[in-house]
Amino acid sequence: MSCPHLPQGFDFTDPDLLQARVPHPEFAEMRRTAPVWWCEQPAGISGFDDEGYWAVTRHADVRHVSTHPELFSSNTNTAVIRFNESISRDQIEVQKLIMLNMDPPEHTRVRQIVQRGFTPRAVRSLEAALRRRARSIVETAAAGAKPDGSFDFVTNIAVELPLQAIAELVGVPQEDRSKIFDWSNKMAAYDDPEYAITEEVGTEAAMEIVSYAMNLAAARKECPAQDIVSRLVAAEGEGNLSSDEFGFFVILLAVAGNETTRNAISHGMHAFLTHPEQWELYKRLRPDTAAEEIVRWATPVVSFQRTATQDVVLGGARIKKGDRVGLFYSSANNDPTVFDHPERFDITRDPNPHLGFGGGPHFCLGKSLAVMEIDLIFDAIADALPDLRLAGDPRRLRSAWLNGIKELQVTTG
Ligand code: HEM
Repeated sequence: MSCPHLPQGFDFTDPDLLQARVPHPEFAEMRRTAPVWWCEQPAGISGFDDEGYWAVTRHADVRHVSTHPELFSSNTNTAVIRFNESISRDQIEVQKLIMLNMDPPEHTRVRQIVQRGFTPRAVRSLEAALRRRARSIVETAAAGAKPDGSFDFVTNIAVELPLQAIAELVGVPQEDRSKIFDWSNKMAAYDDPEYAITEEVGTEAAMEIVSYAMNLAAARKECPAQDIVSRLVAAEGEGNLSSDEFGFFVILLAVAGNETTRNAISHGMHAFLTHPEQWELYKRLRPDTAAEEIVRWATPVVSFQRTATQDVVLGGARIKKGDRVGLFYSSANNDPTVFDHPERFDITRDPNPHLGFGGGPHFCLGKSLAVMEIDLIFDAIADALPDLRLAGDPRRLRSAWLNGIKELQVTTG
């Protein structure tokens, strides 16, 4: 049965829908009237026996599912899959090697190891290099603007810092960065035909990254350096990652840390330029609450999913063992029972218990790094391009689960 308050066949993971808009009015209706509801999907699209998923839209329920991995497993597939659009069944098996798709106790073991690369000290150690990088990205974009002062914010500013941050974290030498960036971008967003990236190209790029990372791991075992590779693999064995595990971890970083942060930055710039009073406030005060509000506002990951491990009742709905459950972070982050005036972009919002970085055992490992990147890039823009203005409407990405912007024309003129 489809939701009584939505048009027949309405699907929150339809890439055509997300290319047009985030379905905020429909989420609001669901939160009010049918907070956990079965959404049907066209036959064959998901690869699961049941052609559909439970849409979970309230903040409390999204948090509940995220924090109960024994009831809602990540193992079948966390990212939203639409077979005829993005990935094949073989790739599902490969995905199980990635921690995002693991459950305890396996997930706990890997998470304890990789956390060593993301301690506050490890993230802080990247700050000076990334601050310099952010400044140079903004200066280069300004210098390369057209004679009328316009340029595309996404390709000239938002894209580069997240890639540089991952390269810096992993310790990829300068001379190898352009090929790593190329592979990372090929793995991203291939729901969107405009990028002309096929499944084969995406898989090939992923394999290139695994093999590059494994070679890097082997080199660091021989000769350790001050980077995450050395910390995670230097002494293979109990308490460390094998070279294969490290390869798949780098794939996850290249996917999880790249487009997410890029879109937070692009949406953040759009939000600032459409809320000039917030941009003025930012330039004056640089509040440390701004990055979290940008992530709440943007919610780059619209949804991830889980699979029920047993029959369970949630929000009045009877979920059956094996059913897929969609966690709609975009809806949770606009739940008025948690956020005062969620429709307001307010960079001083505090507290801000948004779920843009997820929750529970899979809570975003790169959160501190992402927040630092957002702070650094907007500091650099506020210093070098304080009078930036919009020069057109954003063009949105076609994706089943990302709230993406692929072009945002701005001008200094
Ligand atoms: C997990 C969002 C940036 C690495 C997650 C999850 C979300 C998320 C929602 C939870 C997945 C789940 O519960 O199934 C974001 C957003 C970002 C961002 C919105 C930017 C604004 C980053 C960065 C990195 C990163 C910069 C690293 C370079 C990871 C990893 C996981 C993860 C490794 C998996 C953790 C696990 O399975 O235990 N992220 N992320 N993310 N994120 Fe992020």
